[in-house]
Amino acid sequence: MEGVRSSSLLPGIFSRVGSIMKKISKSLAVRQSKAPLFDTLLAHAKRNVISFHCPGHKNGRSIDKELKNYTGEEVYKFDVTVFDEVDSLHDPIGPIKKAQELMAQAYGVKHSFFLVNGTSVGNMAMFLAACDSGDSIIVSRSSHKSITTGIIMSGVWPIWIQPKIDQNLDLFFNSTYEQVKDALDKYPEAKAVFITSPTYNGVVTELSKIIDLCHRRGKIVLVDEAHGGHLIFNKQLPESAVTAGADLCVQSTHKILSAMSQGSVLHFNSKIVDFNRVKKIVSMLQTTSPNYLTLASLDLARRQAFLHGEENFSRVIKVAEWGRAYINNNIHSMKCFTRSEMQKLGFDLDVTKLTVNVTKTGLSGYEIENILAKEYNIQLDYADLFNLVAITGEGSNKSDIEAFVNALESISKKYHGKQKNWILKIPSLATEMVMKPREVFLSSNTKKVSLKKAVGHIAAQTLTPYPPGIPVIIPGERITKEICDYLIDMSSKDIRIIGQEAEMLKTVKIFTN
Ligand SMILES: Cc1ncc(COP(=O)(O)O)c(C=O)c1O
Repeated sequence: MEGVRSSSLLPGIFSRVGSIMKKISKSLAVRQSKAPLFDTLLAHAKRNVISFHCPGHKNGRSIDKELKNYTGEEVYKFDVTVFDEVDSLHDPIGPIKKAQELMAQAYGVKHSFFLVNGTSVGNMAMFLAACDSGDSIIVSRSSHKSITTGIIMSGVWPIWIQPKIDQNLDLFFNSTYEQVKDALDKYPEAKAVFITSPTYNGVVTELSKIIDLCHRRGKIVLVDEAHGGHLIFNKQLPESAVTAGADLCVQSTHKILSAMSQGSVLHFNSKIVDFNRVKKIVSMLQTTSPNYLTLASLDLARRQAFLHGEENFSRVIKVAEWGRAYINNNIHSMKCFTRSEMQKLGFDLDVTKLTVNVTKTGLSGYEIENILAKEYNIQLDYADLFNLVAITGEGSNKSDIEAFVNALESISKKYHGKQKNWILKIPSLATEMVMKPREVFLSSNTKKVSLKKAVGHIAAQTLTPYPPGIPVIIPGERITKEICDYLIDMSSKDIRIIGQEAEMLKTVKIFTN
């Protein structure tokens, strides 16, 4: 009888819960439809205030005419400096504070910091905020170069995870759950784990599992989610690091969402990292003259994504998936991996990114990137020997994708070469970290020796061949014969090696005691 009574109450309870939820989401949408920083700047710009503050162009008046003719003058009225009305990025109490609070609310985190030097500065801040000098941190070797900077600045000992390479897809991956677990078992002293997800190619690792494991072991998790600011706003996309529980996570709001270049956000959502330390460090690393147009664009990008992300990204997903299918079904010399292929490999995929493998065309990715730019007026974000990476974003539309796949189809018909048998490989990077990267970087006890003579010495520089864009030496590491042989081999090929100080890579900088 009791059971019958309670089950007859259920529909009523559900409908009341449903209506409460509707009210909450409506009031959230009302709050999220505000853009306090943009509104303040717009009101300020409209008043044509006489400027006796920096910058010197005075509301755009002295901006070069040629530039102004193209852009119009109004936009420069947003380029102001710090004063009470527009608030300070370093100690916000007004519209910047409100805009950051709305950002934090949109992502469901405790606090969001606006960044004006991209995710690069956010990565450096995460290292400095989470670790003390001498701490060790587990980090994938396939990380952005700002991670090496963060390691040098913070004086930590990196414990590297060697990225897995897939020679069928000519691709390397981010750290897996098993790799992180192995590293934690082997190095229980590590204070934190640094993950990059998604990768440049949109491949997402098992973040929830990794973060749960790290938290159970009392480790801080830092995530470079430069390419994932949009994930939380569409149900079809993979899980974001903020939902998965990262302590700190940085996103380039300018990459896929609609903020201006350099606009990024660092999200704080930790019980173990000291918030005040994060705040101090973010302030230490940022300019005192932030670009307010960039700041306002962060406010607007958040509003747009919160209110329209579901619809906008559903459109982008649809057209990107259409493009992927078109390439895979119609262009036989090119291949674009799919979400289900990635899932079979234990990863997930942000399908808005198109990675097109071109090895069967007989041309390199660089060559096709060039042809696309010169003959088809299409500019990609990235290419390497094997792949092209087309990054779509909130502003992408079907005609962009059509132009891209039509161009690829015509290139595949027009240009032929012999299929290349380049192989994506890296040497074993499980080398001895003899000194902290910071110590070697700041030392003047260095000299250059020929590559062949570097074996056994401690590296005093970073060298990163592209592809795969993974540093094969880092300051403080013992240089092995395998690494030397690899670099000698790379330097004789058409491979860019970032960090070399002369036209050809012949020497390497070592530490001399
Ligand atoms: C994975 C990753 N992290 C960080 C960055 C740096 O981001 P930003 O350009 O916003 O400084 C990039 C840039 O391409 C990136 O690909």
